[in-house]
Formats: sequence, C-alpha cells, structure tokens
Amino acid sequence: MPALPTFDCKLITGVVYAATAIGLFKLASMTYSFLSLITSLFLLPPVDFKVYGAKKGAWAVVTGASEGIGQEFAKQLASRGLNIVLISRTQSKLEQIATDIETKYKVQTKVVAADCSKNTPELYALLSRAIEELPVSVLINNVGRSHEGPVPLVETPDEEVENILTINNLFLVKMTKLCIPVIDKAIASKKASRGLIVNVGSFAGLFPTPYLATYSGSKSFLQNFSQALSVELKSQKIDVELVLAYFVTTALSAIRRSSFFIPTPKDFVAATLRNMGRRGGAQDRFATSSPYPSHALLQYVAHNTVGVYSELLANATFKAMKATRAKRLKKLQRQKEAKAE
Ligand SMILES: NC(=O)c1ccc[n+]([C@@H]2O[C@H](COP(=O)([O-])OP(=O)(O)OC[C@H]3O[C@@H](n4cnc5c(N)ncnc54)[C@H](OP(=O)(O)O)[C@@H]3O)[C@@H](O)[C@H]2O)c1
Repeated sequence: MPALPTFDCKLITGVVYAATAIGLFKLASMTYSFLSLITSLFLLPPVDFKVYGAKKGAWAVVTGASEGIGQEFAKQLASRGLNIVLISRTQSKLEQIATDIETKYKVQTKVVAADCSKNTPELYALLSRAIEELPVSVLINNVGRSHEGPVPLVETPDEEVENILTINNLFLVKMTKLCIPVIDKAIASKKASRGLIVNVGSFAGLFPTPYLATYSGSKSFLQNFSQALSVELKSQKIDVELVLAYFVTTALSAIRRSSFFIPTPKDFVAATLRNMGRRGGAQDRFATSSPYPSHALLQYVAHNTVGVYSELLANATFKAMKATRAKRLKKLQRQKEAKAE
C-alpha cells in the first residue's frame, strides 16, 4: 500500500490564520468605510459656509450658472449669504437669474456672458477684469460639455472633441489659475477664513465609459488635478474638492424625470453643499466627494466589489452605451424622415 502524503500541519494552520486575519481586516475596513459614509452624509451637521465668507461680503464665482447644476449652485450659495458672479454664454438668462437671486436672497450679483470654449487671451482678460477687484473666496468650476450622444471616437466630430477638452479641462485649469491669487487676497483681507475650489466631476470619469471616451477622459483628468492641487493649496488655506455625480436631471443628461438614482439639480446641490469636504461615497480618495446618498452607495458598492476600473464594469457600460446609441440613431432617423415628408 502506497504511503499517504504527509501534511505540514503547522504550515496549513499558519495559512488558515493568515487568510482569516486578512479576511477580518478587509471586513473591518469595509465596515469602517461604510460607517464613515453614513456618518458623513447623514449624521454630521451641514457644513457652515461662514468659514468661506458667507454673510461677510465674500463672493462665489459659478461657471455654467444659467442652467442645471450651476444655476442651483448660484442660488444655494446665495441662500447661504455669498454674493455671486454668474458666468455662461447667455446674457438674458444670466440677468434673469441674477435678478431672482438678488430679490430672494438679498445678496449682490454680477453677470459675465462669455463662451468658455473660446480659449483666447480676450476671454481670460474679460474674466480677470470681472473678478480681480472682488473678494472672491469660492470658485465653482461647474461648466462642462459632453458628447451629443454615445459615439465611437473615430466618428466624433473634431469640434465636439475640442470643445469637450477645452471647456472641461483647459478652461477649468486656466480659470482656477486666475482665481487663486484673488482668493488669497480675500483670505488676507479677512473676508473669509478659507477659500474653496469645487470641480464638478462625473461618474463617467470614475468608470471608463466607452462611446463617451473623450468626456470620460476629460472628467478623469479632474481626479488627479483636484487631488494634486488640494495638497498644493493646503498651506494657503484653500480647500479643493472634486464633486462626483452620477446622473442628474438636466439638459446635459437629457433626463427629465428624477428617481432614486437620478436627483434634480436642486437635490444634488443641496447634498453637495451640505456635505462639502466630506467623502460620502468616495471613501477611498481624498479631496473627493460623492455627496448624493444613492450615488454614494453606488460608488461604495462598485469600489468594494468589482472595482471602479474593472473591465467587467467597462464592458457592461459599453453594452448600455451601445443600446442608448442605437435608440438615439433610430430617433434621429425618424426625425429626419418626418422633416423630409
Ligand atoms: N447632468 C448630469 O447628469 C451630470 C452628471 C455628472 C456630471 N455632470 C457635470 O455637471 C456640470 C453641469 O452640467 P449640467 O448637467 O448642469 O449642464 P446643463 O444643464 O447643460 O448646463 C450647462 C450650463 O453651462 C453653460 N454653458 C454651456 N456651454 C458653455 C460655454 N461654452 N461657455 C459658457 N457657458 C456654457 C450653459 O449656459 P449657456 O447655454 O447659456 O451658455 C448652462 O448654464 C458639468 O460639468 C457636467 O459634466 C452632469
């Protein structure tokens, strides 16, 4: 009879202990980050914007302020007692919102009609003149452009690619550069104890998103940019925060009806300002916030299961994008035929 293999019992026991310890550590860290998520979004009191100069005469600059998420940032920051500079292309829309804000919240406003896709010295000179004499303590880098619809890169018009990268990246970087010395001055003059720069990011930058590759890449750029800058500006008392959103009901998303996972801009911005500087669903990264509760949950689950950079998730997203593209192309074809009749 052949001899039975001998096992090194000590080794096996050691492996079992190590595996159990690793498992327990993973479980403990997941539980800790989930509790931190719940605490940061629901249990801590709302962030007080006095530290950023609210009710002390300080100003907030909001880009893309005439509609959607930007309009809500303008209104809700004004409701906290900040004066507001509103920037977008359409003067008439800006003036209407500025009047509403002044009447309702008794703060001052200034409007600047400018096209952020024009990367010209004149654009930055105009913006610089508009803000350089104001005690600006808050910059909301909100303006953003996406693709007209899901599209393969080779079929994406050059104008679309250039606009996305210019507005989402180049303009944001240059606007930030322009505002930092102005925020420094506001802090030095004691109009605010701290400055705040918010970059509005997207889940498209968190998860690689096929058929929205340029938009996805432009938003993922904001991750490292925001984190690097947050460290750079810490000693200047300027907080930098990347705010991540899944879908929100705006013209950009072309989604009209809100649901559990898709808030209105009003609800999204309320959660963002309430939780400013807190991680929410972005427990794994600093200077980043996933502030809307259902979005936070999505991010937490993705991070702790397949991982945000998993190919599995990218393939599933691609499938969804293909379906959306097919639907969109059919709709465009129907519209074309109706026009031709
Ligand atoms: N909605 C979503 O589901 C979602 C999800 C994740 C992230 N985001 C991000 O949230 C931010 C705001 O998006 P939104 O959904 O609120 O968009 P939106 O409703 O389409 O509003 C865009 C705003 O930007 C202005 N704007 C557009 N192009 C401009 C340009 N070239 N120069 C100056 N202003 C311009 C528009 O006003 P004018 O037309 O008058 O210029 C408008 O005020 C973006 O950065 C977007 O990537 C949105």
